[in-house]
Amino acid sequence: MSESAVTSIEENPVYVRHAERARANKPPSKSTPMGAVAGARAHGARSEMVAQIRDQDELVTATIGTMHYKPVTVCGVDLKLEPLQPSIGTVVHGIDLAKDLAEPEMVVFLRNLWLERRVIMFRNQNHLTPRQQVEFASHFGEIGVRYGEPGHEPNSPRDLSHPVVIDGVPEMLVLISDEKVPGAASNWHADATWQKRPPMGSVLMCREAPPIGGDTCFCDCYSMWQGLSKETKERVQHLTAIHEGGINHQMDGKTPVSQHPVARTHPETGRTTLYVQQGFVRRLAPEHGIPEDEERALLREMKNQEGRLEYTCRFRWEPGSIAMWDNRAVLHSASADFWPHRRRMERLTILDYDESRRTPYYAPASG
Ligand SMILES: [Fe+2]
Repeated sequence: MSESAVTSIEENPVYVRHAERARANKPPSKSTPMGAVAGARAHGARSEMVAQIRDQDELVTATIGTMHYKPVTVCGVDLKLEPLQPSIGTVVHGIDLAKDLAEPEMVVFLRNLWLERRVIMFRNQNHLTPRQQVEFASHFGEIGVRYGEPGHEPNSPRDLSHPVVIDGVPEMLVLISDEKVPGAASNWHADATWQKRPPMGSVLMCREAPPIGGDTCFCDCYSMWQGLSKETKERVQHLTAIHEGGINHQMDGKTPVSQHPVARTHPETGRTTLYVQQGFVRRLAPEHGIPEDEERALLREMKNQEGRLEYTCRFRWEPGSIAMWDNRAVLHSASADFWPHRRRMERLTILDYDESRRTPYYAPASG
């Protein structure tokens, strides 16, 4: 049949391919962003995935200008959950983090939401003192020192945040950018993966925000894994990569380096993430003996998954906004677009209370 003879969409060869997959109960191909995101949200045959995703989304209602999940009441607190993207990022409105976490049910609710949405955010929390931020974060894990586990405290003169210490809360990393000293971590990374046991999560609060710009973006590492070709997944799934800190992470002149699996099993969800990122991954482990050309191509292919619009959400900061993310499931990157304005952020790292889950691993059976 010549192209001009195609008169309806049912005759279009692309449509025919899609229709065949639907008839065979196969989901959209994971080699497309649509299929990768669907695969990261649900599993099983196509019909099961459709039901799971519809189930997740049936709580969405639309109002003019803003979209909220239906209000939910947890421990007597009326919350509104605002999804930023279908698979990643939810802003929790209506909560006071200084007093609403007294009930264990609220902590369980937030933790489950955090695991499901990879990153959760809050607004209007500027009344929290640094100590209260620590108390909030302690509900989810042990508070790390400024870069995660104790034992590595960067003392490089290039670490601009080093001299800024909040009285009584030495664990807090203060990140200030202004006209004189501009800066933002504007590359995709998970925090401190150059550690042997990188921090499980991070809590970032904005104290001073530029009038516009300086947003933080988050990228879903489950979708990044789903989006790799089958051949690449098979090739890389048992490899490890070298994560190397920057000059500002040096301690006593030594750059910290760690080796981690390329495919990582999330220790709580059991699902696979791609644990490779432009921020700290420099090369694959030399013991694999992978030729340089192939290594370059594999790293490029994996890093090309970073920042795809379908995998990301973007959070605009206001003073008192907080984001709490799962470093095992998302990458993040700040948007370095706000010079000469001032931006002041305060970060805590959270370590898993269960020490056996702190070291990244890959368990293939978990898929
Ligand atoms: Fe970071």
